[in-house]
Order: sequence, then structure tokens, then C-alpha cells
Amino acid sequence: MKGWVAAFPRQWRDAMMIAEAIQVPRAYQKTAHLVVAGMGGSGMGGDLLQDLLRHDPRGPIIVNHTYDLPGWVGSSSVVGLVSYSGDTEETLAVYRAARSRKAKVFCITSGGRLAAMAARDRVPLALIPSGYPPRAALGYTFLSLVKVAQRLGWGPSLWRDAKETASRLERWAVSYERGRTARLMKSWARRWAGQPVLIMTTEDRRSVGLRWKNQWNENAKSLAYVVTLPEMDHNEVVGWGHSMRSHLRRWTLVCLRDRRDHSRIQMRFGITRAMWRKVGGQSYEVWSEGQSPMARAMSHIYFGDWLSVYLAEVGGVAATPVPPITWLKQQLSRP
Ligand code: PA5
Repeated sequence: MKGWVAAFPRQWRDAMMIAEAIQVPRAYQKTAHLVVAGMGGSGMGGDLLQDLLRHDPRGPIIVNHTYDLPGWVGSSSVVGLVSYSGDTEETLAVYRAARSRKAKVFCITSGGRLAAMAARDRVPLALIPSGYPPRAALGYTFLSLVKVAQRLGWGPSLWRDAKETASRLERWAVSYERGRTARLMKSWARRWAGQPVLIMTTEDRRSVGLRWKNQWNENAKSLAYVVTLPEMDHNEVVGWGHSMRSHLRRWTLVCLRDRRDHSRIQMRFGITRAMWRKVGGQSYEVWSEGQSPMARAMSHIYFGDWLSVYLAEVGGVAATPVPPITWLKQQLSRP
């Protein structure tokens, strides 16, 4: 996993080149909304895109993480199916549902049944390189989605933001692998090893917290949960009662901060963290870097990716294999 994480800046540039070639039929362009369906590592790009296009006037982007589609999806919908392996049953079920509802479909995959069905049905297909664990291929899945969304009229500045992100990723890779930040991450990893983590982010940057959680689960083989401001201040904080103190002492709180957050959110981070200090364990802040929303989101994501790999090293676990996911898929594929 560490090799893929280290090579991620190269993947990002390669993914930009591949995505440039993606074309979308003219008939797709008049649709009002975009639905992105995918699970786990392949669903992540959709979550991130949804957050980045939250304020886009073009219309909503809906992310679908289950077998079926919302009732309103029909012939005026564009549905993007993302499955790295091309064999994920939820995504294949959504492909069939979208086709039967006459939605305008496109697929992003490295092969499998999804690629075969797309070829059979002459559905637009972005074929991305194979050989990666799905979560390590985020550059390919996300940037393919970005390009499709852009061709449909969403996010006119997204490609410029992807370029900014490309050059920043190269700089971050150096300091996250060898520099001062790498040393800081390793010392955090030693302190956090074996503890559950609570990741505090904001409602409109939820995808970044979700990526941290998923990387914690899959790379570090450890538990993490995401809570978002301001919503958590209306429920979660009550659960931090004194009766929970003995448990929460073993938890680590990580606050994912962004200088562009609403001023009241900035204030809530400070107050909520102070509440945590009264009942919980350690707490830390990680500030995003970069100019564009995409670069700032990716700075958090890339930081978390490296941290999860260092956690795996400290914990003595293999970061790449995910035996429970493989086992579950085997059980589900039994006749
Ligand atoms: O990281 C993983 O291996 C999983 O989260 C997968 O991405 C998930 O099971 C879906 O599989 P795929 O990405 O092949 O559609």
C-alpha cells in the first residue's frame, strides 16, 4: 500500500491524461441531475465530487451506496456506475435498474462484468488501469468522474483545481514520506495505535472524514467514526457524558480543519474540542493546505492516507489485504 500511496501524485497526473479522452454523448447534456453509484473505495470519488459541487448551480449530484435507485431516477437522469473491479453486486444491480428506467448511463471500471455489460449495451465506458486495490485508485475513479461531470456542465473550474492539486501532491509526497511531517505522522501513529478514532469534520466536507475512516478501517485494520459539525453539536456531544468517560479516555479525536469554514463552524470546533477534553482522550487538529476546495480536500485525504499506512506499520499489520471484504464477497457469491 505504501508504494501506491507514494506514487499517488504520478497516478493523479496519469488519471488526468486518461480522463481528458472521456467523451459524453450530446443527449446526456440536458439532464438535471447526476447520480453516482459505487461502493467502498469506488464510491469515494462520488462522495468527494458531491461535496465539491455542493454549491454548483447546475443541479444536484446524488451518491448512491446501495442496490437500488431513488424512485425519481428515470430517463432524464444521468447515472454513473463506478466499480473498480467491475464485479460489485450492488453496482451491477444499479446498472440494471438504471438501464430498465431508461436513464443515461456511463461506467467507470477496470474491467469485470460491468465493462462487459457496458460494451454489450454500447454504454459510454471509461476504462481505467487494473492492478490496484480499489481504494488506492482514487485518482483514476475520481478524476474520471470529474471529467464526466464537467462535460455535462458541472464545475467549470474543477479541471484547473485538479492541476493545482497535481503540483501540490508532488510536494506533499516528499514531506509526508521523508520530511518533518513524516516524523510527526509517525509519532502520532505510535500514540494512536490500537485506539479508536473519532474524526470531526464538517457537513460539507464529510467525504474527507469518510476517506479517513475507510483508510483507518482498511489499511490500519482499526476503528474510526466520522462526526460532522454543526450537526453533532445537536446530539453527539450529549453522548460524551461522564458515564462514558472510561471508554472515551481511550479514544482519539482528530479535527479536520479548513480556513474557509464558516466563522460559526470555526467557533464550534474550538468549543466542541474543549468539551471533548473534559471527557475524552487525546485530541489533534489537521489543517488543510492549498487554494482550491479540491486541493484542500486532497491535502486532508493524502495526509490521512499516509497516516493510515504509518498506523499499519506501527500496528504490525499488512495494509493492503482486506480479508473480511474478500470473505464476505465469497459468501455472497455462493449459489
Ligand atoms: O477497498 C475495497 O476493496 C472495497 O471498499 C471495494 O472498493 C468495494 O468492496 C467495492 O468494490 P469495487 O471497488 O471493486 O467496486
